[in-house]
Amino acid sequence: MEIDEEKALAARAAAGRVRAGQRVALGTGSTTAFTIRAIAENFPGGDNLSIVASSVATERFATTLGLPVRALEPNDHFDVMVDGADEVAPTLALTKGGGAALFREKFLARLSTELVIAVDHTKLVPRLGTRAPIPIEIVPFARVKLIHQLSERSLSPRLRADRVSGAPVLTDNGNEVLDLFPEDGVRDPAHLEHELRLLPGVIETGLFVGLAHRVYVGLPDGTVQEILRPDTKPG
Ligand code: A5P
Repeated sequence: MEIDEEKALAARAAAGRVRAGQRVALGTGSTTAFTIRAIAENFPGGDNLSIVASSVATERFATTLGLPVRALEPNDHFDVMVDGADEVAPTLALTKGGGAALFREKFLARLSTELVIAVDHTKLVPRLGTRAPIPIEIVPFARVKLIHQLSERSLSPRLRADRVSGAPVLTDNGNEVLDLFPEDGVRDPAHLEHELRLLPGVIETGLFVGLAHRVYVGLPDGTVQEILRPDTKPG
């Protein structure tokens, strides 16, 4: 089975968590694109869903499929957020931000009752940071200092740059992204997350600890595995 088929299977399961009339937050990335497509099929024209997107790309894509996407409102809270991930640890801690949307994704995830993640099987890892780098969104002015500080901590920071132009990738918030390559991965994601957030100039990290409730994994045999955080009710 192709990876895209695994993504599509997991995405369909994730889309199945969205109920009529709900407030829905949309993540970003190629797997989430499958989920958005499935939501658009389940709710043509968006029905009475109330949707906020985590990136300009997602907003554009959802809108082209006929889903109504609105701006964030003062009292916003979401019944469900659907998203993808770059890595999923056994604890359901995640690495996200391969698409540079980590700030808005985490911002919306924190406002959501349930965070549902869809991934293909290659995203399951024993330890975060072993398959994908850990991205952090930073203020461009602080970049040189941060690279120095993170290098001293053996996190091997690398400025994310456009493959063609070589220019720094900018997030939808106008910031830059450093990808961190910790040797042997991340032993304690919550601790690293806390340490990184203390550095002036770091806006957000791609470590999502304690946020995901439910992960759907598309498997090579064509089935979907559902992994629940221990405090998440089945069903
Ligand atoms: C976007 O910033 C990310 O968090 C994505 O959700 C993550 O990179 C997974 O993307 P794919 O589904 O494209 O692998």
